[in-house]
Amino acid sequence: MSGNKESTARTLVVALIVSLVASIFVAGSAVILKPVQEENRLLDRQRGILAVAGVGAGLSSKEVQEIFAKRIQAELIDLSTGEKSEAHDPLSFDALKAAQDPETSAALPGKEDLAGIKRRERFSTVYRLVKEDGGGELEALILPVRGYGLWSTLHGFIAIKPDLNTVLGLGFYQHGETPGLGGEVDNPKWKGQWPGKTLFDESGKPNIEIVKGGVQPGGKDAAHQVDALAGATLTTNGVNRLLVFWLGEQGFGPYLARLRQEGI
Ligand SMILES: Cc1cc2nc3c(=O)[nH]c(=O)nc-3n(C[C@H](O)[C@H](O)[C@H](O)COP(=O)(O)O)c2cc1C
Repeated sequence: MSGNKESTARTLVVALIVSLVASIFVAGSAVILKPVQEENRLLDRQRGILAVAGVGAGLSSKEVQEIFAKRIQAELIDLSTGEKSEAHDPLSFDALKAAQDPETSAALPGKEDLAGIKRRERFSTVYRLVKEDGGGELEALILPVRGYGLWSTLHGFIAIKPDLNTVLGLGFYQHGETPGLGGEVDNPKWKGQWPGKTLFDESGKPNIEIVKGGVQPGGKDAAHQVDALAGATLTTNGVNRLLVFWLGEQGFGPYLARLRQEGI
């Protein structure tokens, strides 16, 4: 009887020690790996920003960091006015965190919330990609975009040419849409339809349409249209709405209007 008690107590002590050691190991790893995870996240973001403008494919991490440092100029923009702001460091500014805080964001009434994001941050970081020759001439303007698809918020970037109208590329670096359906927004063939499309009508209003059944080649609106993904119209409708939102008055509209007026 007492032998049994002793062995139960011993088992419990051993289990306690094992779980203590395991939890110290897990907690320690999390702390040690945090800087590595942060660095990888930053690198992914830098790669995504360059990739959407057609730069950086097949480059090593070091090369991505070098090109980013040399050719990307980040600017913080006050979205309501479109003016440049010094309120935060543009590279470390966390727009998603800001969008959750009532102090640094505003609630979007349902009618205005085309992207399904509920709140919009006051500031956002835009990225200017300058030409390789070092002269500082703009090659692309890269804007962060996000919005709800069918199951998830899609986070990505759109790169626009210096005419502030023609798309260089669109890409999402994070979403939870179904692989093979909405997840096909990552398919290079679908993404390949975007370069060369134009985003605005003559008055500067966003004019983008993702068309179910396919774009009519040579149709009068073909320059503004992209094919919907077959079997994933709901995700592509979300992409359509989020682009209209971020290129419009609630998003980068005032900033783009300022650039059109003042020059890039
Ligand atoms: C398990 C499951 C996952 C789905 N995932 C997606 C998705 O990620 N994106 C999407 O647009 N539609 C998805 N659909 C299909 C939608 O319910 C809907 O049928 C589709 O978007 C309509 O597009 P279509 O008119 O081109 O068929 C999914 C359907 C099922 C059953």
